[in-house]
Amino acid sequence: MALLRVERVSKRFGGLDALRDVTFSVHERQIKALIGPNGAGKTTLFNLVSGAARPSDGHLYLNDVELSGRTPHEICRMGVGRTFQHSLLFDDMSLLENVEVGRYSRTNAGVLASVLTLPRHRREERATEEAALGALRRVGMDHKADEPAGNLPMGERHLLEIARALASEPQLLLLDEPAAGLNEEETDRLGDTVRTIRSQGVTVLLVEHDMNFVMEISDEVVVLDYGKKIAEGSPLLIQDNEEVIKAYLGEELE
Ligand SMILES: Nc1ncnc2c1ncn2[C@@H]1O[C@H](COP(=O)(O)OP(=O)(O)O)[C@@H](O)[C@H]1O
Ligand SMILES: [Mg+2]
Repeated sequence: MALLRVERVSKRFGGLDALRDVTFSVHERQIKALIGPNGAGKTTLFNLVSGAARPSDGHLYLNDVELSGRTPHEICRMGVGRTFQHSLLFDDMSLLENVEVGRYSRTNAGVLASVLTLPRHRREERATEEAALGALRRVGMDHKADEPAGNLPMGERHLLEIARALASEPQLLLLDEPAAGLNEEETDRLGDTVRTIRSQGVTVLLVEHDMNFVMEISDEVVVLDYGKKIAEGSPLLIQDNEEVIKAYLGEELE
C-alpha cells in the first residue's frame, strides 16, 4: 500500500509555480529520492507533506488520510518526521537535549518555542529522556548523549538531526539534503544509518544532490524540473533518461 500519496499537487507563490500538477506515491518501507535542479520545488514539496505550507491545488494522503489542511503538529503526530535543509541545532546543548527538543515539535519555530517548554515533571522528563536516548541509539550516537552538539563534525550533526526527527517515531521520514557537506566516509555512514532505519520499518523520502548517494540508496527516484515531475523510476532507468540528463544529471554527474 502507498504510505504517502501526492496527487496532482500544485503550489503557487504569487506568479511562480513552485509545483505543477505533481503526482507520485511512496510505498511502505521504500527509500525514495526526490531530485532536480535548485528551485525545482523539492523543499516546497517537503513543506506541503509536513504541513509547513498548503497546496494551492491537489491532495496529499498519509495512509489514505488527507494531510492538506492539517497543522505541522498534527502531521507529526500522524507519523511524519523531517529534517531541514538548513539545520537548527543548539550547539551549547547536549545531543540528548537537542533530541528532546525534537519530541515537542517539528517546525523550526516550534523547536525554538519548545526549548522554553521542556517538561517540568519528573515522570514526563524520564519518558522523554528514554525516547531521546532510543533515537540517538538508532543513529549510533547514544554514547555521546551528554556531549555538546557544537563539538560534532558535520556528518554526526546530520545524524543528530535524524535522531531528532526519529524521536517521535515517524512512519515516514523526510530528509532534506542529508549528504550535503559530508565527506565520503560520512556519506557512507549516513547511508548505512538510513538503511538501518528503513530495516526498522521506517519509510524514507529524501532530497539530495549527491547522485552517487541517491543512486546507491534509493529504490526509486522522482525527478522534478521547474516544479514538474519529468521522470520517475528505478535509479538505473533515471540515469538513462534523456530528459533527466538534459535537465539535471548532465551537469551533476560531470
Ligand atoms: N515561501 C516562498 N515564497 C515565494 N517563493 C518561494 C517560497 N518558497 C520557495 N519559493 C520558490 O519556489 C521555487 C522552488 O523552491 P524550493 O522548493 O526551495 O526548490 P528546491 O528545494 O528544489 O531547490 C523557487 O523558485 C523558490 O524561489
Ligand atoms: Mg531545497
